Amino acid sequence: MNKIIYLDAAASALKPESVINTEMEFLRESYANSGRGICPRAAAVDNMVMRARESVASFINAKPEQIVFTSGSTDGLNRIVNIITGQPWYNGGRFAVSDLDHHSARLPWEALLHRGKISKMSVCDLDENFDVKIDSVPQCDFLVITAMSNVLGRAQDVAGIIAAARNKNPDVITIVDAAQYVVHNKIDVEKWDCDFLVFSGHKIGADTGIGILYIRDSQKYFPDKFGGGMVMSVRESGLDLESAPEKWEAGTLPLTQIAGLVPAIKYLEQNRPNLDLIKYMYDELLNNPRIKILTKRDSALLSFVVDGMHILDVGTYLGAYGICVRVGNCCASWIHKKMGVPGCARASVGAWNTMDDARAFVNAINKIVK
Ligand SMILES: Cc1ncc(COP(=O)(O)O)c(C=O)c1O
Repeated sequence: MNKIIYLDAAASALKPESVINTEMEFLRESYANSGRGICPRAAAVDNMVMRARESVASFINAKPEQIVFTSGSTDGLNRIVNIITGQPWYNGGRFAVSDLDHHSARLPWEALLHRGKISKMSVCDLDENFDVKIDSVPQCDFLVITAMSNVLGRAQDVAGIIAAARNKNPDVITIVDAAQYVVHNKIDVEKWDCDFLVFSGHKIGADTGIGILYIRDSQKYFPDKFGGGMVMSVRESGLDLESAPEKWEAGTLPLTQIAGLVPAIKYLEQNRPNLDLIKYMYDELLNNPRIKILTKRDSALLSFVVDGMHILDVGTYLGAYGICVRVGNCCASWIHKKMGVPGCARASVGAWNTMDDARAFVNAINKIVK
């Protein structure tokens, strides 16, 4: 059996020991619920949640009350739509997307469009590098921005896109999907001037079941979820909400996963993926005439198709050599359509990968694709 070489960081990151140990210690030594008790254990868990929130806030230059724990990017992106459409002022409007979007970012809006709850959808143009053309950003009320496509791995000029949208409509609500971007680049929500932003814990080395939703005006909106922990009092004719962030977090939080966030962020900040491995794989695959590379040399990942070979076969053959890559449409149908391919094979690296892994990938590809 070949050694397993995991080149699928963009789907989900392997976990640093510090994350595993922190979660195990939390479960073994200090588990209790948060936001519900005053006993020493409950207070310690409240403290842990507070520290995690502060750590996430400083990671993206936000304030702790702007950080909401969700179950992941998909949850956050769907919640944003529910938050916006649940406001008393919501009355439809125009929304804009791009073909870089992941299904999770765009489908919740498209679903609204199909139900007649939104008046117009525009798609921003892409330039010859498949980057969002800033001058094509339309006048709109809601704008979805994929900070880095999970197929092309190129950082977008988020600040420039938002500035262009605000130029045309100062009240535009901007939503950033940073699920891939956050792994490779520092985020500054203040500089970007965005209204909402999401990312998933599992892609930055934390656990599954935890995500971050940044809400700039977190006190302003009426919440989308109701339950324990988010109201101060219930009156005969209404309710008094807790202030943010508590008002956004009805029900018991994913505490173990939250415990893993602090070590995950610390580890990621000190160990960003080594993109020289991507450059090496790119240079090697470039020599193979049957391979068409879809990404650039300096992208954060490598996507490609093979002439005369079904993409699922590429994944299966690589798997037989112990190499794990993602194959298929990567939940990003629109960009594949734009590029004229039904799907691709995608290799992506994390801090655990070495040049030997990259060489093993290239050797396997050269055996499979002659
Ligand atoms: C760009 C992008 N957005 C959103 C998501 C959805 O993330 P999750 O499945 O963690 O909710 C992904 C996951 O692949 C992604 O790459």
